[in-house]
Amino acid sequence: MIIAAALAAVCVGCSSPAKEQGLKDVYADYFKVGVALKPENMNPAEQALTLREFNSVTCENVMKPGEIHPAADVWNFAKADSIADWCRANGIKMRGHCLCWHNQFAMWMLSDEEGNPVSKEVFYERLREHIHTVVGRYKDVIYCWDVVNEAITDDDVAENPFRQSFLYELCGDEFIAKAFEFAAEADPEAVLFYNDYNSFLPGKRDRIAAMVRDMQARGVKINGIGMQGHCNLEVPTAENLSDAIDTFASIVDHVQVTELDIRVNREFGGQLNFSHEGETVSDSIIALHVAQYERFFRVLREHKEQIDVVTFWNLSDKDSWVGTANYPLLFDTELEKKPAYEAVTKF
Ligand code: XIL
Repeated sequence: MIIAAALAAVCVGCSSPAKEQGLKDVYADYFKVGVALKPENMNPAEQALTLREFNSVTCENVMKPGEIHPAADVWNFAKADSIADWCRANGIKMRGHCLCWHNQFAMWMLSDEEGNPVSKEVFYERLREHIHTVVGRYKDVIYCWDVVNEAITDDDVAENPFRQSFLYELCGDEFIAKAFEFAAEADPEAVLFYNDYNSFLPGKRDRIAAMVRDMQARGVKINGIGMQGHCNLEVPTAENLSDAIDTFASIVDHVQVTELDIRVNREFGGQLNFSHEGETVSDSIIALHVAQYERFFRVLREHKEQIDVVTFWNLSDKDSWVGTANYPLLFDTELEKKPAYEAVTKF
């Protein structure tokens, strides 16, 4: 068997051609390469593309609290199971996303049956049960969890480093410690991540670093920092990316890029779903897109000892949450490789 596999790999023009290499093979000596999937991707063509290119999978939405647990006694496991079962059958390990976030949250946890706000103690009981159920169900296939997502402010001049969300209003920063505590109880083996966007920007990077250090000093188990990586043609710079990886790797054992895409729209925020109907992306923009992917992966390769996994946020431009016209990923709407694929794989 081993000899046959070796022969197949070097066989040129024979009847069973060598298996096409994917990102996961090109980066085998560097880090794993992952992808965020939706249940709609569970079709033969997209499953084949995933198997060829990737060796880690995240559910884009269907494991988020508001999706999987929309009411106290309602659990929607079927969509998450469709992806998890396929990963189990194909020997692919998953990242869990996510257990506690102010968006797509199980809002029922915050109020009683009359609609009055609950105490933080009641909230913690509900969050604990939620985390134990979800983490327990998938612990055979999920190797790490984004336990808390986006709890730090973007505001560089704010006195308070925390996002002023309903979670913070009810609990202060204690909800972060509690979520990690519940996740560690539910699966002592799992790598537990704090995950956030714009974490390459020095101000936010330092607020995240300070928060994680402070939690660790209080005995909270946080052993991963996820840099989401929703980028544009200029942000991050190579220097900012490199510095952020070094900073986070000095605090935790596991640093990952968890949600990579590079949009061609230069504006962050407001125009997230960039949709210039009928407009095509010009050659000069494609060149900038290629250059940013090339730069980004060059820095990642230089930091291969510190980076575990790099996950793309969606499989192809067809599915991207920033919109097809943002041209964000390595595969086009027909699932074909784009110019940036070459930039990432030829080095
Ligand atoms: C996004 C999904 O891709 C969208 O489909 C959904 O409508 C909103 O959330 N940060 C995160 C991800 O941690 O969960 C978000 O995913 C993108 C930003």
